[in-house]
Amino acid sequence: MNVLGLSPLDKDSHASLVVDGRVLFASGEERYSRVKQQSGFPIKAIDAALSFARLAPEAIDVVAYPFLDAAGERAAIESAFAADAAFEDAFEPPSLEPLLAQALARVPARGEPIHGLTEPNFRMRKGAAKEHFYRLAGTHPRASRFAARRIARDWAQRAIADHENWQRELEAGLERLGLAGKLRRSEHHLSHAANAYYSSGFERALIVTLDGYGTGLAGSVSIGEGGRIERLHGQRFPHSLGSFYEMVTSSLGFKPDRHAGKIVGLAAYGDPRVLAEVLLSRVDRSRSGEFAIYQNLNVHLSRRLAAEFPVVDVAAAYQHVLEVLACDYVREWMRRTGAKHVVLSGGVTANVKMNQRIHEIEGVEGLFVYPNMGDGGCGTGLAMHLSWPGGVRETVHDVYLGPSYDEAQMKSALDEAGLRFERPEQLASFVARKLHEGVVVARFDGRMEYGPRALGNRSILYHGREPKVNQWLNQRLGRTEFMPFAPVTLWEAASKCYHRVAGAAHAAEFMTVTFDCTDFMKSTCPAAVHVDGTARPQLIRREVNPGYYDILREHEKLSGSPSLINTSFNMHEEPIVASPRDAVRAFLDGRIDALVMGPFYVENPERAR
Ligand SMILES: [Fe+2]
Repeated sequence: MNVLGLSPLDKDSHASLVVDGRVLFASGEERYSRVKQQSGFPIKAIDAALSFARLAPEAIDVVAYPFLDAAGERAAIESAFAADAAFEDAFEPPSLEPLLAQALARVPARGEPIHGLTEPNFRMRKGAAKEHFYRLAGTHPRASRFAARRIARDWAQRAIADHENWQRELEAGLERLGLAGKLRRSEHHLSHAANAYYSSGFERALIVTLDGYGTGLAGSVSIGEGGRIERLHGQRFPHSLGSFYEMVTSSLGFKPDRHAGKIVGLAAYGDPRVLAEVLLSRVDRSRSGEFAIYQNLNVHLSRRLAAEFPVVDVAAAYQHVLEVLACDYVREWMRRTGAKHVVLSGGVTANVKMNQRIHEIEGVEGLFVYPNMGDGGCGTGLAMHLSWPGGVRETVHDVYLGPSYDEAQMKSALDEAGLRFERPEQLASFVARKLHEGVVVARFDGRMEYGPRALGNRSILYHGREPKVNQWLNQRLGRTEFMPFAPVTLWEAASKCYHRVAGAAHAAEFMTVTFDCTDFMKSTCPAAVHVDGTARPQLIRREVNPGYYDILREHEKLSGSPSLINTSFNMHEEPIVASPRDAVRAFLDGRIDALVMGPFYVENPERAR
């Protein structure tokens, strides 16, 4: 059965082609439109999928879409907010003012500069009038209830209108392809659960999904067994860890749906003890196996905290509370089910530090995180579910599921740009030597990665000896990051570089979890080690990507380090490159020293250093 999976149209829309539970092709519309997190009907990604498989639209049996229709989502939203209103009336959080006064006294003095902040204890000062408003709307007992109700009402109205728009857009898009009659919808969290479980290779696993919003829920727990998925619990929206984290992301001046990773990086510099108690005082944890967050959508609280406390401590507290709530949730459902393997999906599980904490829960023997964990992966999940013949299959081998280009296409992109290239005989050792000499090399080869991470085929590589690379290369690429570049490490060297890899090594093939680094890693690849001593590696096995692996192996011979830095190959605020032309354009943008594309190697005529 040929199933076309479409992810939600609201942002980062994806198309995937799944045949009998096997993903043949999957990619995001952004890679073709060149607009980051492109929303709307993913016609270019659908065309790419059909042309890859040499299928006409009529060969599609089913189109999978991971939301109910607009009426169904409206009912789910209204019911979620009705339940929340009852909770808000019943729950009485302690007065925040004394807690905040105690918290202020806990703020440490800091002298060490933090890259990206004007001073280490930087606060988001907004002026007296705004800060007065945040105190009222965020924390005053009556005013904050009024503000929270308004925010909830506006959120619901906007979401209902959005679902109506997406429904129109989806139906019109499918109509044009002659596929309107083949649409099958599902509630949202099944799609997350399905991609994580079916790709994990585990016979029996606890399936935990955590996101912002999906069909009245913000999370779910299921048990996967023998290829079947049984829902055990739905974590009701708006008690959403996704929304919780969005509040702090936006209050610290970043885009909530895109920059949550920056908060994870920032959090490592702060002290979670300053504000954790304040945040936890607003969480009802009295019922085991679930949680409720008082006024969770009221952004004025986090704005007040961001104005009055160092941003690093605010980030640290939100990260800490996220980890506490997620771990409690997982721990309780492990206890009830006896499950030892945990699989994760949903946008919140892009949080690599939270995933590390979950992996470290006592009794977790195996952890898998779906590589495209956000909503971009949902269409694939539902398509797998609908085409699944049943039983447990081997786990996902790789996520090189996008388009590839042949040598002639690569050569013609280089020729068009008038670039002088060479074709080194021993490519891997040639590139390894360049890297060892300090050349920034972009690598373009094979099929494009599916999901948010570049995993070697559309990657920028550099040696990891020099911690300062995190400043100058990010600056050159036009990025602000608080987390260092991630390393790629030879599979065989995993335990030499990272502690407690067992059980999560496969998840680490997709850069979905952090680990504490060994002293060896800290000394040989310091650029990839965060201030808290962790890194989020990609572990690479030769059979997954020999060309990429061989560069690392040759580099290890020269340097003694089995790791390199791997960051995505894209221009500032653009999606990761897809085609050879995109690659040449990004390369010529002047920020990368060299490009290795297929068998060809070219150095930038205007090499910056
Ligand atoms: Fe989702």
